[in-house]
Amino acid sequence: MTDLFGLPKAELHLHIEGTLEPELAFALARRNKIAMPFGSVEELRAAYRFQNLSSFLDVYYAAMACLRTEDDFADLARAYLDRAAAQGVRHAEIFFDPQAHLGRGVPLEAVIDGLTAALAEAERDHGISGGLILCFLRDMPAAEADAVLTAALPRRADLLGVGLDSAEVGNPPERFAEVFRRAREAGLRAVAHAGEEAPPEYVWQALDLLGVERIDHGIRAVEDAALVDRLAAEAVPLTVCPLSNVRLKAVADLAAHPLPELIERGVAVTINSDDPAYFGGYIGDNFKAVADQFGLSPDAAATLARTSFTASFLEPARERVLLAEVDAWEAAQA
Ligand code: ADE
Ligand code: ZN
Repeated sequence: MTDLFGLPKAELHLHIEGTLEPELAFALARRNKIAMPFGSVEELRAAYRFQNLSSFLDVYYAAMACLRTEDDFADLARAYLDRAAAQGVRHAEIFFDPQAHLGRGVPLEAVIDGLTAALAEAERDHGISGGLILCFLRDMPAAEADAVLTAALPRRADLLGVGLDSAEVGNPPERFAEVFRRAREAGLRAVAHAGEEAPPEYVWQALDLLGVERIDHGIRAVEDAALVDRLAAEAVPLTVCPLSNVRLKAVADLAAHPLPELIERGVAVTINSDDPAYFGGYIGDNFKAVADQFGLSPDAAATLARTSFTASFLEPARERVLLAEVDAWEAAQA
């Protein structure tokens, strides 16, 4: 049996707020003496029947009501990093949504301080490296994204890059060209969600107008042969999230997922969990689901893991160490 949990891997598409398990949400709500917009753990879990991205986002933003303090963000990220370590994650580039917390009066500092504290602990306890990617909410005005970037720049050293997430259809990348230009000018790396629910045009815009280095999801690129050719030729990685795509009905079922076709056509794809508390599994579970559906030889699994490291924003020395861990894993699979 291929040991997919033991396979060393990077997670490149993970919203820390999407790792909020209902039990932790209610524990934090009790600690902060606030009422949750759901009556119980069971009631919250029962709301996990999503028709599309926006019906998920309604629950995702509502459940965040419990996140108030630096300690809350540290506890949230610690819980994720412990689980990720148990599923083979050696490096994690973690999205967070500051605008979703500023609205509740939670300062950016508290969010960043809590998350960086947990990352430092994970490095010490699990040998996991990692970093933070600040996401702008694309369904909010570009001026708000601009203000968040300005507020975040004093913490530039704590950030790997910027991303773009939230409700995609009707919110194309083009409105965010200027804020992404400023972020890149400040030395931040750039990624964006595109082609999750919206058409390939959004992926073209993310590449041409935002200057991103990776596309998050990007699965609808498969509908546009010229775009697939460009992604392959320019080695632009896609951070694919199979269980998320099934749960949010971006694909009819896993059998219909374009992952094998994208690989076949030469695109650099990685497997990730997106919002694992909501979608039925963490990153190792996503690897297992793909293996169960399509088959995954040790060689193919190792290729996916190598791509996760080469697609990451790791410095070369650490990347080489982690690629060697994949070689050792593959040699042990015989
Ligand atoms: N925010 C959290 N998860 C997301 C997803 N899958 N797509 C867009 N925005 C998100
Ligand atoms: Zn996502």
